[in-house]
Amino acid sequence: MNKANIYKLSSGTQIPSVGLGLWQVKDKSECMATVKAGIDTGYTHFDSAQIYQNEQFLGEALKLSSVKREDVFVTTKIHVGNFLRVKGSFNKSLTKLQTEYVDLLLLHFPVSGARGKAWRDLEDIHADGKAKAIGVSNYTVRHLKQLLKNCKIKPAVNQVELHVFLQQPELVAFCQENGILVEAYSPLAHGQGLDDPVLMSIAKKHGKSTAQIMIRWCLDIGTVPLPKSTHADRIKQNIDVFDFELDSTDMEKINSLDRNLRTCWDPTNVI
Ligand code: A2P
Repeated sequence: MNKANIYKLSSGTQIPSVGLGLWQVKDKSECMATVKAGIDTGYTHFDSAQIYQNEQFLGEALKLSSVKREDVFVTTKIHVGNFLRVKGSFNKSLTKLQTEYVDLLLLHFPVSGARGKAWRDLEDIHADGKAKAIGVSNYTVRHLKQLLKNCKIKPAVNQVELHVFLQQPELVAFCQENGILVEAYSPLAHGQGLDDPVLMSIAKKHGKSTAQIMIRWCLDIGTVPLPKSTHADRIKQNIDVFDFELDSTDMEKINSLDRNLRTCWDPTNVI
């Protein structure tokens, strides 16, 4: 049973407000156990990518489960090395995922030169019904402005690194003003800062863990967090965030934690 809230994307597609991130879950048995633990604890949203090398394990785990395809939200992303063969590579992704469509298909990175044509390929895939929604990942405001000027279909999503230590308020505001849902990857800053004293005091106040505070912050600013864990207890904990909210004092304290901490790719200087 789904535990998260449901949002609507600009494409009309419904998206659960918390997803299980599968970055760096490459081992087959670990990935399948992770997806199973996710399903068992109420996740219906799974975030994969070609470069994660686990689409086939996600597909297999979903097939083995009793969950109906229409009851789960599956995302994959076109790897930067496949921007010149988007459609062929995507068909392979569908085969690996054992599905006729994905719920969300993203361009993984704003690759210079190749991203315009790659977006048109995504528009074709969407028109064919093989991706219910299309979007981008790691796009800055500059990349988005350029895309918005040149697209037939607006990106429904921009998936970026976002957490209390990398808050990106201008990017989030720009996306929200333009009807682009922001998904937060590495919402736990890759495990860094979970012992931050400010987060620990807020966690204590709410009787929650610091990880849950970080995830709740993503929700409270209107984004969709995609926490990754391969441990069943943490997977469960990371979606158990719907029985409290952060108040204005908590939010003010968390605002002061922003320090532009990037734990992954930095697309700022990509032309
Ligand atoms: P593990 O997979 O061993 O549980 P992010 O989603 O920001 O990339 O963070 C992922 C990192 O945070 C992983 O190292 C993961 O470790 C760890 N992690 C995930 N959930 C929790 C949690 N609830 N408490 C502590 N660490 C967590």
